[in-house]
Amino acid sequence: MARLILTGATGLLGRNVLFEVLKQSLRRGERHMVVVLGRASGDRSLRQRVMDMLSTDGADYIFGEDRPPAIDLDALLSQVRCVEADAVGRAGDPIVQIGELPGGARGWDALVHCAGQTSFRTDSETARRVLDVNFGGAQRVTALAGQIELGKLVFVGSAYSAGRMAGTILPDDLDLAGSFANPYQRSKAAAERVVRDFAELSGLDTVVVRPSTIGGRLIEERIGAVPTFAVFYEWAARMLRFKIRAMGPGRPALDEWHRLPLRFHIARGSGLHIVPADYCAKLIVHAALHPTPDRAIHLAPERSTPHELYVRRMLDWIKVAGVEFVGERPADLDRFERHYYRTLGDMFDPYVTVPAIHFDLGATRRLEQAAGIACPVVDGAAFDRLMAYAVERGLGVPEARGDAEATVASA
Ligand SMILES: NC(=O)c1ccc[n+]([C@@H]2O[C@H](COP(=O)([O-])OP(=O)(O)OC[C@H]3O[C@@H](n4cnc5c(N)ncnc54)[C@H](OP(=O)(O)O)[C@@H]3O)[C@@H](O)[C@H]2O)c1
Repeated sequence: MARLILTGATGLLGRNVLFEVLKQSLRRGERHMVVVLGRASGDRSLRQRVMDMLSTDGADYIFGEDRPPAIDLDALLSQVRCVEADAVGRAGDPIVQIGELPGGARGWDALVHCAGQTSFRTDSETARRVLDVNFGGAQRVTALAGQIELGKLVFVGSAYSAGRMAGTILPDDLDLAGSFANPYQRSKAAAERVVRDFAELSGLDTVVVRPSTIGGRLIEERIGAVPTFAVFYEWAARMLRFKIRAMGPGRPALDEWHRLPLRFHIARGSGLHIVPADYCAKLIVHAALHPTPDRAIHLAPERSTPHELYVRRMLDWIKVAGVEFVGERPADLDRFERHYYRTLGDMFDPYVTVPAIHFDLGATRRLEQAAGIACPVVDGAAFDRLMAYAVERGLGVPEARGDAEATVASA
């Protein structure tokens, strides 16, 4: 039995890590114990949030097609302890006081830090927030790691933390003086520096895993599942909102085609490195529970999904016509295009207009081999499976079906 501490368990990646630990426990009868450090939301305590998550999304992942009609939530919860903790707080203080940890400081096998603030916005408020959560959070998590008896620290960084977006990126590349597309990338790089410095000073076994762009599940049920529609899903959701505004209220925007004429600047021959959340979770859990020869590991696919392929598919799924791919941003933008480039373009251009990038996967292959899994290829058919789930939930846009009843999946 292993004892783990996990942050970010209510988010996309962290929940999959929690589900994977519980699934392995069930399959192998090992009964791991996970302490979830996280936040309440509105009037729902952290425990309530985790219970909701386990009885829906978690049950799908853990039991798959063998899901029993009634889930024994108490049995699952007997392996999970929820402790409310915020990544933002006094610098230098541990994210949680030792006394609040069940069992105190002794005997922790791994601490997996998944909590983070993922926003590509470039305004000063977002810049402050991502720094507080990502950089400040890394300080508070390493402060905890330094105060407990811990076997291993697994830090979830980002493949975009290298400080450049060209050529071959090694998982050890980290240049804080380099160029970053947005405050988020910079904050993740600064956080990784904190973790690496801590590892060097403390000598603690530490692994930095660096996912590229995380999409919904492609291995475990439900295929495509995501709790919110961020990153590339956010692009589709925002385009859907533009469409709804253009069509006027009360129309079933997901059922009718509409033209949004846009000359969309992309780097031809380049693409997005999409990795399924469950693949990432399986590698993270393996890295947390077993010895690993590498200290920095990309979680990225061998090949990117071409921008032209997945963007066209997103547009088809939300029934938007009129978007044309161009190799340069036109000088004579019309009104909608100016609005697009000022808002969505500002966030996503750094990802879609850079030349092809390559993430070194030597350490990834070693971890995949040890864990016995391979990265699902996100080709057109797989991307459609991701979008099918997203569109079924209206991409989190309540007006998408012409009424306010579309489900916004969140837990
Ligand atoms: N998504 C990607 O494409 C991607 C790619 C590369 C790396 N990453 C990294 O992977 C990690 C997980 O990302 P994700 O996509 O799972 O993000 P997510 O879905 O937005 O989840 C973020 C998690 O962090 C928690 N969190 C945020 N602020 C917090 C705070 N102040 N105190 C405590 N917990 C806080 C959230 O809790 P609440 O539910 O309470 O908000 C949630 O559990 C992040 O470190 C991110 O930088 C993500």
